[in-house]
Amino acid sequence: MSKPLLQFPNPHEHALSIRAKALVFEDPKSQELLRRIDLVAPSRANVLIIGETGTGKELVARHVHALSEYRDGPFVAVNCGAFSETLVESELFGHDRGAFTGAVQSKPGWFEAANGGTLFLDEIGDLPLTMQVKLLRVLQEREVTRLGSRHAVPVDLRLVAATNVRLEEAVAAGRFREDLYYRLNVATLTLLPLRDRPGDILPLARHFLNLYTRRLGTERIAFSAAAERALEQHPWPGNIRQLENVIHHALLVCRGNSIQPADLHLAAPRVTDVASPMSPPAGAGRDPEAALRAALLDLFETDASDLYHRIEEAVVRTAFEYCHGNQLQTARLLGITRNVLRARLQKIGELQVSPSRLRVADDEQIPSLSPDSHLSASQGYA
Ligand SMILES: Nc1ncnc2c1ncn2[C@@H]1O[C@H](COP(=O)(O)OP(=O)(O)O)[C@@H](O)[C@H]1O
Ligand SMILES: [Mg+2]
Repeated sequence: MSKPLLQFPNPHEHALSIRAKALVFEDPKSQELLRRIDLVAPSRANVLIIGETGTGKELVARHVHALSEYRDGPFVAVNCGAFSETLVESELFGHDRGAFTGAVQSKPGWFEAANGGTLFLDEIGDLPLTMQVKLLRVLQEREVTRLGSRHAVPVDLRLVAATNVRLEEAVAAGRFREDLYYRLNVATLTLLPLRDRPGDILPLARHFLNLYTRRLGTERIAFSAAAERALEQHPWPGNIRQLENVIHHALLVCRGNSIQPADLHLAAPRVTDVASPMSPPAGAGRDPEAALRAALLDLFETDASDLYHRIEEAVVRTAFEYCHGNQLQTARLLGITRNVLRARLQKIGELQVSPSRLRVADDEQIPSLSPDSHLSASQGYA
């Protein structure tokens, strides 16, 4: 028997507050991070958050905001990779009426929108070099000038930037300005991948179980002991976001009041890995190239006719999912140009709307950032 979904006067606000308050940090390494956040947050220093996709960078940015003197101002989250090079400038700094063809109204940019609060620049490594120069100037002068305007507007805000790539390497490769890097990197918060803080896995899994049980209005459900073991042993390449999706999905497919390992749909270790005396043991430290070879050998045993295309599709689709529908990152991950990627995505019918973005927006009831939804701003925190 399932209860009806609870209705809240403002579901958007409620979803945000659940999301914002929920901080599970139980592993000793995570507790150390929490102490560091407490230390860094109250200052006005720019913060750089470094971590793989899905490790909780945005959640930590919101937490920093909540602990800062800007907590009563807005929290404006912006994904620097989600906008084309031509759009990003007017999005960041705003524009005046008539600044360019199509600018029928003047519009404040993200900096002005975040004034008095926190501006969270996600995927800062995706910011085009020309924009990096302008961003640096705004940070130095603490004022923005809208495109096509002569008047500078003073801004007082906390800047938190996040990246899932090692910016030092981007600096060395000439893709990121060194001066901007030093200006952003005043205080660093490093989020470890989930596999390096195993003490967080089960507490997080239980947290998501409670969260989704409440949201779905289902009865009490628990993990079986075997399911808990499977969760703990999984390497979680997609980190906490993947764990969250796995739990959500398991809740939808499990029978009765207990979640079994099969409900989690975690990839089982491949038989070939174990069978060959040459290959290292399955699990941690396993050579991914060897695993790939083994998977291909398995596939060659099947009698599929269009194997090449299926494999290509799997590569593109998996990378695209891994990058949460971000084309720039997917292209970078695969080492191909964005145009080539777009052609492949079109071929497999993935180009219209990113399904993973849709899913996130659906679950969390937060508008996803797309070039035409101007801001993902949320006023206040809890
Ligand atoms: N420590 C945590 N406690 C609870 N939930 C978390 C934690 N870290 C991340 N999450 C959840 O995991 C998901 C991914 O986190 P997010 O901040 O979007 O990651 P990132 O920005 O690094 O890709 C979000 O739904 C977030 O609420
Ligand atoms: Mg993020």
